[in-house]
Amino acid sequence: MTVETVAVIGSGLMGRGIAYAAAVGGFRTVVHDVSAPALDRAFAQIRKDLDDGVARGKLTAADATAAFARLSAHTELSAVAEADFVIEAVPEDIAVKVRTFASLDATCPPDVVLATNTSALSITEIAAATGDPERVVGMHFFNPVPKMKLVEIVRALDTSEDAIAVTTSVARRMGKETVLVRESPGFITSRINAMIGNEAFLMLQEGVATAEDIDKALKLGLNHPMGPFEMVDLVGLDTRLAVLEFLHRSLGEKYRPAPLLVQHVRAGRLGKKVGRGVYDYGGS
Ligand code: NAI
Repeated sequence: MTVETVAVIGSGLMGRGIAYAAAVGGFRTVVHDVSAPALDRAFAQIRKDLDDGVARGKLTAADATAAFARLSAHTELSAVAEADFVIEAVPEDIAVKVRTFASLDATCPPDVVLATNTSALSITEIAAATGDPERVVGMHFFNPVPKMKLVEIVRALDTSEDAIAVTTSVARRMGKETVLVRESPGFITSRINAMIGNEAFLMLQEGVATAEDIDKALKLGLNHPMGPFEMVDLVGLDTRLAVLEFLHRSLGEKYRPAPLLVQHVRAGRLGKKVGRGVYDYGGS
């Protein structure tokens, strides 16, 4: 089917970025959130991101104006009924996702693909809340969406080839590259990233090198754009620990969180957001 209108469910950090990419990609974009203030904040941020895109030479001022005009904000889920493709970005809570997908299944026509941006929940379990799990697929974007090139497309147990093909074409029109992943904990990126980050903590704990030198080695020797400690300070050490605990539970011993990471979290050294993680940012 030809997709003309995309609906984005949830207008938080990820939803607003996805709405930006959809509108810039030329889709009419219906944004739904249960919170009107969240929608206001999202639209203000999208306007800012569009201006930033113009300043960076990524789009013309006329393109930015046209993209903004393609967006509409709605607190009622019924507005989503006109969409040909739906991307859900509500909080990472299985009960909320299941409720949302049951409502979407009842609201959207049968041939509309329902994609979830979940980071780690089971897409198969989310799909089971609908009457047609074949139309449910994972579409994992990265933060900040306007700048990050990749989308992981995730095939759940019953996802149809058609749903994958439509999702791939929507992602491409949003200017994204795609990879196809079978549903599995951490997909490709979170699993490898958590492993590298954990190994870095184990090396620091063993006294193999300083944090600065481990970061420097990965940047200059392996061409990583950021060192693993710079990265974990940005992601949040508590978030990283939660991912590792999940991978440890689901994939086994090699993902056991490094004791030094656990200690940092217990000390409240959660990263840049609190002013102190592996590095000190002069905060509280
Ligand atoms: P967020 O908390 O910033 O935004 C969630 C939004 O959903 C809020 O505006 C909230 O008002 C709205 N909402 C809550 N219940 C709703 C409902 N029933 N219907 C409609 N809207 C509802 O969350 P964020 O960070 O944007 O995450 C969204 C999803 O994206 C989660 O599944 C998360 O795991 C995933 N994700 C997050 C990434 C990140 O870096 N934050 C990266 C990739 C995926």
